[in-house]
Formats: sequence, C-alpha cells, structure tokens
Amino acid sequence: MYKCAIILAAGQGTRIKSDIPKVLHKVCGKEMVNHVIDTMRKASIDDVNVIVGKGAELVKEKTSFKNITYSLQEEQLGTGHAVKCAVEFLKGKKGVVGVFAGDAPLIKPETVENLFNEHLVKGNSATLLTSMVEDPTGYGRVVRAGDEVLKIVEHKDCSPEELKIREMNAAIYCFDIESLVESLDKLSNDNNQGEYYLTDVIGILKNEGKKVGAIVIDYEETIGVNSRVQLAEAEEILRNRINLMHMNNGVTLIDPKSTYIGADVEIERDTVIYPNNVLEGNTKIGKGVIIYPNSRISNSEIDDFVEIQASVILDSKIGEGTTVGPFAYIRPDSVIGNNARIGDFVEIKKSNIGNNTKVSHLTYIGDASVGENCNFGCGTVVVNYDGKVKHKTEIGNNSFIGCNTNLVSPVKISDNTYIAAGSTITNNVNEGELAVARARQVNIPGWVAKKGLDKK
Ligand code: UD1
Ligand code: CA
Repeated sequence: MYKCAIILAAGQGTRIKSDIPKVLHKVCGKEMVNHVIDTMRKASIDDVNVIVGKGAELVKEKTSFKNITYSLQEEQLGTGHAVKCAVEFLKGKKGVVGVFAGDAPLIKPETVENLFNEHLVKGNSATLLTSMVEDPTGYGRVVRAGDEVLKIVEHKDCSPEELKIREMNAAIYCFDIESLVESLDKLSNDNNQGEYYLTDVIGILKNEGKKVGAIVIDYEETIGVNSRVQLAEAEEILRNRINLMHMNNGVTLIDPKSTYIGADVEIERDTVIYPNNVLEGNTKIGKGVIIYPNSRISNSEIDDFVEIQASVILDSKIGEGTTVGPFAYIRPDSVIGNNARIGDFVEIKKSNIGNNTKVSHLTYIGDASVGENCNFGCGTVVVNYDGKVKHKTEIGNNSFIGCNTNLVSPVKISDNTYIAAGSTITNNVNEGELAVARARQVNIPGWVAKKGLDKK
C-alpha cells in the first residue's frame, strides 16, 4: 500500500511571539519541522510534502537537504485549507496519507508506524491519535458515542458539556487519500475562528457512514508547541528521552538533568559525561571518552579515549587519546591528531596538529599546519594576521617551540628544529637548526648600588 505524509508548517504561530516561523524553533538543537520530517523517514514514509506559507522561503531553506516536496498555502485560512493546498500532491494517488503538524515534534516513529498499521488493518477512512489530559485547554475535543468517534470540536467552538471532555485531538491522522480529497471540498469556515478546520473532516466522513478510528497515546508524544512555555516543555521531554537512550546504550551521564545532548548526536559505550555539558549538531563521540564539566561540543568528531575539560570545540576533529583543556577553545576546521595535548587557555583555529604534539598552555595557533611530536612552550603565538590578510604557518615534525615565541606568518619551520624562548620568528627555520631571534642579554655589574637603589 502506498504511504505518504503531509506536514502542516504554514502558520506563523502568533502565540510564540517570534520573527521566525514557529516550526523553525528548535527543540534539542533541531527545528521542529525537521524533527517531524526525520520521524517520517524513520517510519519508512519517503514521500513527504511540507505545506509552507508564513516564512515559506526560510522554511524551505532550513529543510532543503531533506529531499521533500512543498505545497504553498499563501493565506493561512486554517488546517483544512492547508491540506487542500496539497491536493496537487495527492491527486491521482491511491493509498494512505498521514497528516502531521510541524509544531508537534515529539511523535515517535513507532507510533507513526502503529497509526498506519491500525488504519490499514481496520480498513478505516480516517484514524486519529488522541490523548487523555487533565487540562485540555486550547485543544480540539474528541466527541464519542460509546467507543465510536463522532467528531472533533475545537476548544473555541465547544459547548459547556464538550469542554468537560478530557480526550484531546493530537492533530496527527491517517486518511484514505481519496476520502480525504473528497471531504476537503465539503469544509466550511462557519465557526468561531472563521477557519477551515481539518478536524471537521472526521465528522464529515463519519456522517457519510465511513469508518473512523482512534488510538489513544501518551500525552507527551502529542504536545503541540504554541508558546515558548510549551517549547521548553517539549525540550525537557525530548532531552530526557535522548539521555535515556544514551544511558541504555552504555553511556554514563553523571547528572542527566544537567546534560544537554542534541537529537542527532552519537555516542559510543563507556563514555562518561559529567554535569553541565552541551553536545550539539552532528557531533560523534567515540568510546571511553571522558567529558568533565562545562564543555560545549558542536558538530565535532571526538575519537575514542579523549578527555575533555571545560572547553569549547566547534566543527573540528579530535584524535584518539588526546586531552583537551581546561579552558581550551578549538575553532572550526581544526584537526587534532592522536595522543596530542591541547592544554589550558589554548586557542586553535583552522589548524592541523599532528599526533603526540603538545600545546600545553596559553597558546594561539591559527591557520597553521603542525607536524607530529612537537612541543609548544607556554605562551606561543602564531601571528597569522597582518592587519589585512591571514597567512599560513607550517611547522614540521619533532620541533620544539620555546616559551613566548611569536611565529610571524607566513613562515615555515622544518622538521627537527628548536626555537629559543622569547623569539620572534620572521624567517624560515631549516631542518636541524636552532633559531634565536631576540636581543642578547647584557648584565651591568654594580648598577643597583650606583643608582642608590640598594635596600641592604
Ligand atoms: C490543532 C487542531 C486541534 C488539536 C491541536 C493539537 C485544528 C483545527 N485544530 O489546533 O484539534 O487539538 O492542533 O496540537 O486542526 N497550519 C497551517 N496552515 C493554517 C493553519 C495552521 O499550515 O492555515 C499549521 C501550523 O503551522 C501548525 C499546525 O498547522 O504547524 C497546527 O496549527 P495550529 O494553529 O497550531 O492549530 P491548533 O490551534 O494548535
Ligand atoms: Ca498547535
């Protein structure tokens, strides 16, 4: 049976009070609409159409790598009208369409699979997901006669009796494509909000004697984010879910409550994560890694057995067994080798650092390529910027850079070289050389007494 999905993402979301479309607000580091698209993929629904309207160009841009199609809803006249705008996508198709809300990011792939299965097994025209909640304020209510679903009534259109119903509409459905397309023409906007409600399709199909089913699921999965408060609620639920998944995979989280792991981060077993760490984007962490408190790691690859203390690592790679921090700042496009050391107050920018190289303290390395087995003394600066252009520095293997050295780029330091502490290096240094580039020391005997400064 053919399966496809429509994701409603055209609304501005006035209640979230934002200049960007609601569905682009992030939960655990990923836009809500991208959560829903990824969930479709995990549930093996490949043909996905996203309905865009408010901020259409931005929504398209942020979802452009997902291999989906779009329908445009120029004016937001309600969720039913939104689906109608996807009729071109649905036309001529036979099978089942899932309709999802771009602002409900917590739905699980297995729940989506269950929804499609139940819909097909029962031979329904429509199947909806619902939930029992203490306070269903704002949600559409599911009106039943016995077990049978009769219709959905929006909160603002509810009678006092209907307001007492605790079963809410999750706004996640499966429809027989042809039945849905036919009913869309029958929607009216004769209601309190003057909108074409998708929810009315349920009552229309029921009145035509078609079969409508519902699955009651956990409220947590159904949360629709309309406000910043609900955004934070969704964040907390997803954060807990992600943390549990990693712990069940063999990762130690010392304090899950203060551990923030993005939705797409991968971590291997026996890695230990201390409190107050933030792991973002497409970060991949190997096994046996220790991340001590207070680090932010974004879009980076951390190999096995790395130890990181209180550092920031962005768009970079750290090789096996390397230690980082405390207080290191590794900026984008840096590649650090294996068993290397990037110590305290060290900043690395767009540079390669070879295996076993030690950059232990108070050093800046930018736009440089550094070989293996080098040692940087405290306070080395790669002077990569001349005020106009960034220049490159090259340092070979087995080089010893003395403390407080300036390497004025562009400059090349060959293999097996030494640079004397306090040097400002402006010329290349050849293999086997010691470079000294500072004024020779002069000692003046008796100077203190002659100046009358002797305190004895
Ligand atoms: C909707 C349901 C309600 C359900 C609730 C669950 C309707 C009429 N109501 O209400 O029964 O309990 O979700 O969260 O469907 N959108 C468009 N175009 C539009 C209007 C909305 O694309 O013209 C999109 C929005 O971007 C959003 C989604 O549809 O992603 C839901 O719209 P929203 O206005 O949040 O509906 P609710 O009032 O929450
Ligand atoms: Ca909503």
